[in-house]
Amino acid sequence: MVADSVSRLEIAGDVASLRAKVAEWRRLGETVALAPTMGALHDGHISLVAQAKKLAHRVVMSIFVNPTQFAPTEDFSAYPRMVEADAAKFAAAEGDLLFLPSAAEVYPAGFASQIITAGPAAAGLEDRFRPTHFAGVATVVAKLLNQCRPDVAVFGEKDYQQLKVVTQMARDLDFETQIFGAPTVREADGLALSSRNVYLSADERRAAPALYRALMACAAEIRAGASIEAALVAAREALASAGFAADYVEARHAETLSPISLRANGPIRLLAAARLGKTRLIDNIAV
Ligand code: PAF
Repeated sequence: MVADSVSRLEIAGDVASLRAKVAEWRRLGETVALAPTMGALHDGHISLVAQAKKLAHRVVMSIFVNPTQFAPTEDFSAYPRMVEADAAKFAAAEGDLLFLPSAAEVYPAGFASQIITAGPAAAGLEDRFRPTHFAGVATVVAKLLNQCRPDVAVFGEKDYQQLKVVTQMARDLDFETQIFGAPTVREADGLALSSRNVYLSADERRAAPALYRALMACAAEIRAGASIEAALVAAREALASAGFAADYVEARHAETLSPISLRANGPIRLLAAARLGKTRLIDNIAV
């Protein structure tokens, strides 16, 4: 069954083939959605496909482990790569085309441009710990949007700051593609799905849901009238007791990501990044 759907799946390895296929669909009056990923697909990615299918006739997924968004100290070479398994999952989810560009296709010799975004990209969250990350993300996403020219593109809310960075970039640079977020998919115990969860040891995996629990408790306290700062202090303490070393646990305005100290000042998003052993987990929830 899966093998059959894989054999029907279209695969494009270069921009010319991708554009030819998209042009064919457009001649038939069909709309196109793009779900950009770095592969190692899990149910969170598959939920992007499900959402994309509701928004457009055709769904393209790109898989490209983008070197420019990894710092030299990060896990670019170790990042899980499993294209055949990914193709089977995408086909089973009834996606239409996998775009699998090579590094040379995305960054040909002489490539010299970079998109530097401010606003949400400089909110003092991930950017504080990964200062070059969002320039890499914005640049590759801009390229993918130009290469595919989709009507819509879908990004997971799991990387909430990334979603806001891409939304801002698309608006500022007049991309016609509409950007959509898809809700985070979680394990039964609350751990947000992430391709990096495979790095967790058995003990760390058992401890990992404490991140989501700390955010949920923090949100409940704020909703019950506690001060935002007091609720954040409690969340940081809960994480430390569960064995995490937190990089940040913050309450931000859900749209701008600017600091927020009063509930009345706007919709609040809680965002956290914390290390468990060598693995860095991020998560976020609405209040
Ligand atoms: O979220 C990801 O997987 C990546 O950051 C993205 C958006 C595909 C850009 O490389």
